[in-house]
Amino acid sequence: MPIEILQLSDLHVMADPHARLKGVCTRETLTAVLRHVNEGVAAGRWNFDTVVITGDFTHDETPAAYEAVKELLGDWLPRCRIIPGNHDDRRVMRSVFGEQAPREGAPINFSCVTGVNEADAWRLIGLDTHVPGELYGELPASQLQWLAEELETHAAEPTLLFMHHPPVLIGSPWIDGIALREPAAFLNLIGRHSQVRIVATGHVHQEFTTSLGGAALFCTPSTGVQFLPRQETLVCDAAPPGFRIFRLDGNTFETEVVRLPQ
Ligand SMILES: [Fe+2]
Ligand SMILES: [Fe+2]
Repeated sequence: MPIEILQLSDLHVMADPHARLKGVCTRETLTAVLRHVNEGVAAGRWNFDTVVITGDFTHDETPAAYEAVKELLGDWLPRCRIIPGNHDDRRVMRSVFGEQAPREGAPINFSCVTGVNEADAWRLIGLDTHVPGELYGELPASQLQWLAEELETHAAEPTLLFMHHPPVLIGSPWIDGIALREPAAFLNLIGRHSQVRIVATGHVHQEFTTSLGGAALFCTPSTGVQFLPRQETLVCDAAPPGFRIFRLDGNTFETEVVRLPQ
């Protein structure tokens, strides 16, 4: 049986329930995305083992916005693994989500194994690229060191890394200027560890796929505002909100982006 992972990203919810970002009410679109997810699960279409939320939970970083996200996640909350984006505040996240939220100075936000039997187990790792007050991301040396040790210790488990900022350029200069800074050490590290099969990010509010040597990089749309690919400056895309599903099966995987019906 494949293990299904749901990735939600770039929620950008605000304290005001009616607030709009680039014309999109992000509270409404997150509500619609979760309704679509719940309907799919109720219909037997999906069966998510874990929900990973890859940052930018809020746009205003207020406690009320995080509380709204927490309430909307409802019964999914115990299955959620979360990492911060640039539009997050670790301190407020922790006050609302407790131990599930990132801890200041911790090398990593989660490392866990999915599934019930060892033969099918995949390791999920959440990296924390948040830099307070900045739009770009960084992986400090301490986190890279931690990741190197983690990958040495669990060399046999196929691994899926989640992080907010992509470690490569995606062809939109305005986004490429706020991607992961100095990604070479990270790319070298995962290049040396062939069990890293997937790197999944948010931040770019669009679907994007490329190869990182032996691993595949997948960027996931936002549950709210979409950005048009390959633009010099920010241009919104009328594409509906979306999310990504990973199906992990033994040593193989499939992934797809699902968008809300228009
Ligand atoms: Fe975002
Ligand atoms: Fe972001």
